[in-house]
Amino acid sequence: MDQELIINKTKKYIKDRLFGEGSGHDWYHVERVYKMAEYIGKKEGADLFIVRMAALMHDVSDHKFHKGNSDIGALITKEWLEQLRVEKSIVQIVTKIVKTISFKAGTVNSNQDSLEGKVVQDADRLDAIGAIGIARTFTYGGKKEREIFNPDIKPREYVDYKEYIKTKNHTINHFYEKLLLLKDLMNTETAKKIALERHELMERYLKQFMMEWDGLDFG
Ligand code: NI
Repeated sequence: MDQELIINKTKKYIKDRLFGEGSGHDWYHVERVYKMAEYIGKKEGADLFIVRMAALMHDVSDHKFHKGNSDIGALITKEWLEQLRVEKSIVQIVTKIVKTISFKAGTVNSNQDSLEGKVVQDADRLDAIGAIGIARTFTYGGKKEREIFNPDIKPREYVDYKEYIKTKNHTINHFYEKLLLLKDLMNTETAKKIALERHELMERYLKQFMMEWDGLDFG
């Protein structure tokens, strides 16, 4: 099967699977990551077939919805690619990228050893910051029944992923514990440039949020 056909079949498969998902990991997230990864991949000289396939598969089974089992996504990916008779060495790389891409409060080693992994990870992280990142963050917080903000709960560093998902937290903390750290975690120069503007927007947003919270913008 030629690569274009494989990609189109995979797009349809993922679209059917994730369409209408309501927590910010829907098909449109995957589509944005796909386009961004394609753009970064071209600039950085990565293998675009691997980049495209990994971008499409990266959230096929998000760990947040499978109780921390990040192996499920890798397993589904392996089976899907084998069924399409993708070359063994490529199946291996794509599966590894899917397995290791999540942030997970910094506890699981998510370092990417392939350029293609670095590219897709950057694209995924870029979708977590900026205007869309803000929208996704509050949507996810709502799904988890988290408060928007609680001034009594201060941000902290998490060393343990299990503790991180167990802790009752509010969404504003998520900016300080994760999202504002992402610009310095970008792998590629192309992504670093894009991250800068998105990062600045989040800082402006938080500043305005606190101003309104404290009532400093009236009277
Ligand atoms: Ni994602």
